[in-house]
Amino acid sequence: MATNRTFTMIKPDAVANGHIGAILNDITAGGFKIVAMKYVHLSDTTAGNFYAVHKERPFYGELVQFMTSGPIVAAILEKENAVEDFRTLIGATDPAKADEGTIRNKYAKSIEANAVHGSDSDENAAIEGDFFFSQFERF
Ligand code: TYD
Repeated sequence: MATNRTFTMIKPDAVANGHIGAILNDITAGGFKIVAMKYVHLSDTTAGNFYAVHKERPFYGELVQFMTSGPIVAAILEKENAVEDFRTLIGATDPAKADEGTIRNKYAKSIEANAVHGSDSDENAAIEGDFFFSQFERF
């Protein structure tokens, strides 16, 4: 994956609360092009593997449980400086600390149920995009 791409998930809380459309609108209005997208319900194994990097952290079990609590939207996004610009668009991990107007500020309720995922580096964007999408599922 080129370094002008990032990976995102619209998490179970935002899907359940009916925010898919609004969040996709914010993403495209922010200048991101959707180059791959799917709507899936993660299994324990899949969510556990995706978040394996957080395995030793105290919130890992609850995070996996939360991420399997309902369907999610996964997508690869393209824009110049995608990783950093998308982290700016979504705001801080804790929605209480997220800047006004960011996606987490508008749609998230808690640090765990924080509406969206955004890759934190070009390297992880590539790993996460490859985790969810084959070469035939992206443009
Ligand atoms: P992290 O990589 O620190 O944040 P970000 O998603 O902003 O890159 O954490 C990954 C996810 O783990 C985060 O989106 C929500 C969850 N999480 C918790 O449930 N509790 C916590 O205390 C933290 C730091 C994260």
